[in-house]
Amino acid sequence: MRGGVTVIESSDLRMTKMPLNHGGGEMPALGFGTLIPDAAVTLTATRGALEAGFRHFDCAERYRNEREVGEALKAGLAAGGIAREDIFVTTKLWNTNHRPERVEPAFEASLDRLGLDYLDLYLIHTPFAFQPGDDQDPRDQNGNILYDHGVTLLDTWRAMESLVDHGKCRAIGLSDIGLNELAHLYESARIKPAVIQVEAHPYLPETELLEFCKEKDIVFLAGAPLGHGIRPGPLEEPVIMAIAARVGKTPAQVLLAWAVQRGTAVLAKTRTAARAKENFNISALPQDALDEINRIQTRQRFNEVVKTGSPGFIPQGR
Ligand SMILES: NC(=O)c1ccc[n+]([C@@H]2O[C@H](COP(=O)([O-])OP(=O)(O)OC[C@H]3O[C@@H](n4cnc5c(N)ncnc54)[C@H](OP(=O)(O)O)[C@@H]3O)[C@@H](O)[C@H]2O)c1
Repeated sequence: MRGGVTVIESSDLRMTKMPLNHGGGEMPALGFGTLIPDAAVTLTATRGALEAGFRHFDCAERYRNEREVGEALKAGLAAGGIAREDIFVTTKLWNTNHRPERVEPAFEASLDRLGLDYLDLYLIHTPFAFQPGDDQDPRDQNGNILYDHGVTLLDTWRAMESLVDHGKCRAIGLSDIGLNELAHLYESARIKPAVIQVEAHPYLPETELLEFCKEKDIVFLAGAPLGHGIRPGPLEEPVIMAIAARVGKTPAQVLLAWAVQRGTAVLAKTRTAARAKENFNISALPQDALDEINRIQTRQRFNEVVKTGSPGFIPQGR
């Protein structure tokens, strides 16, 4: 432990695996995010990530591309002689499906689109319930989100627990959740969350949440570790750029290594095979570099989804 944060010293960070509670197996720490708006690009990017070495894929009903991710995985596994058990696949329940009776059908629909017969991890995408229905973004005539006040997060969680009971998925968790809500749900949950996925990078380290997760054996999965690629942002942070030059790595590799070394799992997304190789090719940073990154003072959240449940960076209209 250093400053309350466990530091992973493994020289091959790419092989780091995180044990999941409740017999959920292990999750490769380095994951590939599939929030990619274009269908054709989803196919090539997912295939490129598999070829680069990624074995953990993060999907969502809301990304509207589960079918293409599934197709790319199927073709890539066959071509590479890789078994289904060798990859870890997550998808997420969207806000319009929080009513308990909608959870299993939504799960089955995702499974069908992905062309899989089980999921490694199923997450509640955000803690916000939207009005149930086929419109993923229900709004009133003034453009305000229509929330569903007839269901609680615990109601939805109970339906998630029953997916695990019935062997439909190995682990369950939450995304875009804050510490108070997580702590509250944790107390009432029969099956404790195995993973939480939240925005995290040196401008939003979420240290308190990370420490809670470590204490409770919940894997903290950092989304948007490159700050969504927004510039200026962590990729152009002078401290990150200076460390990258010093250790002979790229800024993206420094950000991903820091994430794994501080004991989180991490998701990086890229549309190109070359960057997938770059993002997979991380190695451990020296302690002084980790300390310098931990001292960065800039604070910035890039995605406001945690405040409303309505995400940015989502493909529209398909
Ligand atoms: N739960 C949630 O609500 C939520 C929200 C956001 C994200 N996520 C998950 O987290 C994943 C990652 O987040 P994200 O995709 O938004 O952001 P990110 O991984 O932080 O950044 C992706 C951006 O960085 C660029 N990039 C990738 N590799 C790079 C490299 N080596 N050098 C320079 N630029 C690079 C990409 O551009 P190119 O494509 O051109 O390479 C893309 O624009 C998502 O795919 C999703 O699975 C979840």
